[in-house]
Amino acid sequence: MYNKFMLVAILLLIVMYLFKCKASGNYTGREYMPDMAHSRAYDVYVDGPGTRTKILRESGDQQLDYQLFADGKVARKPVAGTVPRGQKPYPFPNTEQGYEQAASYENPYWDADKKILEEGKQHYTVYCAVCHGEKGQGQGSISAAAGGPYGGIPNYFGDAYIQMPEGKMFHSMHYGKADMGSYASQLSKDERWKVVAYIKSLQADYAKSSKGLPSDEAALAYVRGKNLALSPTGEPIVSELESMKTTKLKVGDKFVLKNIFFDTGSAGLKTESYYELDLLQNILNNNADSKVEISGHTDSDGVPENNLTLSENRSQAAYQYLISKGVSEEQITFKGYGQDRPVAPNDTPENKQQNRRVEFEVIE
Ligand code: HEC
Repeated sequence: MYNKFMLVAILLLIVMYLFKCKASGNYTGREYMPDMAHSRAYDVYVDGPGTRTKILRESGDQQLDYQLFADGKVARKPVAGTVPRGQKPYPFPNTEQGYEQAASYENPYWDADKKILEEGKQHYTVYCAVCHGEKGQGQGSISAAAGGPYGGIPNYFGDAYIQMPEGKMFHSMHYGKADMGSYASQLSKDERWKVVAYIKSLQADYAKSSKGLPSDEAALAYVRGKNLALSPTGEPIVSELESMKTTKLKVGDKFVLKNIFFDTGSAGLKTESYYELDLLQNILNNNADSKVEISGHTDSDGVPENNLTLSENRSQAAYQYLISKGVSEEQITFKGYGQDRPVAPNDTPENKQQNRRVEFEVIE
């Protein structure tokens, strides 16, 4: 029994030895844990064209002569069409049209927090600040502005750049532009987006003060070229109606229009209300067979009759706006309820605020 095992083991060793002999020359055989002794299928470093690879770069009257690797080797580019692991290929070609299309490429880090901006800043400081300057005004240490060789470096706060779409910035970093090289190999896609987010944050800081924008959100929306609707206090409006464009209305559906703003104590509709009313108009268009009542409500402060009049006038102001936008009189009515239909007890300022409202209800 024991001897049989020995025999099989020895035979196996002989077979393995024979195979090893075959695996001579460049044949690496099967390797379960490849080491660096064997050449990979694709040699990264190869002999350069000619004996030496030289890059000549003229800067003024001085001629600089760089030489890549003393033995004349150069690094090959990846095989055309190669996609790095875990990454999707960049979708836009290096053409003028591709550049324009890139404008729609959305930065996943557009609302980056401090930590991500800090990371973007680090990469920016390493790769970009020498030209674009720490502050982004184009006065980095090798820029013409600072006596260096690189001219034509933009000031990020100039009119042509302050609202540049993030996708175009990314595009130019990906392929390079004029004297600026490509950063596709130094910075991953993620890192490049973080750098873009950092540049946008510099621009937003600048725009906030220079354009007198009311809030950080408004400034960021401005530099991102987004047409953001803002409330009278400068807060971005996020309306529930945005997600209702395709909603089919049913009788009894009731919604508070949270972004309708009036002058204090009057029925003067502030222009900031148009955004949400336009959304409502859209919903009404898509539900032509529904009939809707616009209602005004107040809190319990003041004289009840006055509240009734105020709420009636306010609901009418919203109604009038919708009619002026082409909504049919058949489709909407308005009514003031004064303080009669509170949604919260009139005990705290917050609750009272909730009671002062304009609503719409589907009645038919
Ligand atoms: C060698 C100097 C240099 C460096 C380094 C450099 N840039 Fe530039 N950059 C330029 C020049 C020059 C232009 C203007 C190109 C043109 O429009 O002709 C430019 C333009 C840009 C633009 C505007 C692109 C457009 O579409 O018009 C952005 C955005 C930008 N650079 C970002 C960066 C970022 C981010 C980095 C670092 C990762 C960086 N640059 C590094 C020189 C540089």
